[in-house]
Amino acid sequence: MARLQILEYPDPRLRTRAVAVREFDARLSRLIDDMFETMYAAPGIGLASSQVDFHQQLIVMDVSDTKDQPLVFCNPEILSRDGVATYEEGCLSVPGIFDDVERAARIRARAQDRTGVPFEMELEGMLAVCLQHEMDHLDGKLFVDYLSDLKRQRIRKKLERDRKDRASRPAAERATTDAPAL
Ligand code: NI
Repeated sequence: MARLQILEYPDPRLRTRAVAVREFDARLSRLIDDMFETMYAAPGIGLASSQVDFHQQLIVMDVSDTKDQPLVFCNPEILSRDGVATYEEGCLSVPGIFDDVERAARIRARAQDRTGVPFEMELEGMLAVCLQHEMDHLDGKLFVDYLSDLKRQRIRKKLERDRKDRASRPAAERATTDAPAL
């Protein structure tokens, strides 16, 4: 397995719209394993293929505390939405930034597993938030798109400063927070 590079906002490649996965082959399986390794190491609870510059509709997630409940969604679709929930979200492509986003509280989704077998699933709580956040990535959308222009501008500047900081002080510790990155 290998860790992959995660693209960071405002990298234009994050705006690519992913196309459907068609080949459920060994290459896809290897990419899924690499995405899990990358997500767990980050650490994060969800990762969309767009974030590692692969533009087919593929998402990996694990919202469990024990990190032993991996989920794979290929070609996900939302069949129904219910209720409204607001969670503080973060994103591995927007490191260190957290803000409230309103989404559907419960969803019913259909997707295919890593071998192409279709399944349906009811999701709520963090699972529902996470899948909606990752599906946005596949559409080229980021959680900062839900925030005001002013906030987004501040975020861009902060990330730019952080990147310069990291470049000049490679051992510098990143700020830690309890909110999960998706
Ligand atoms: Ni994200």
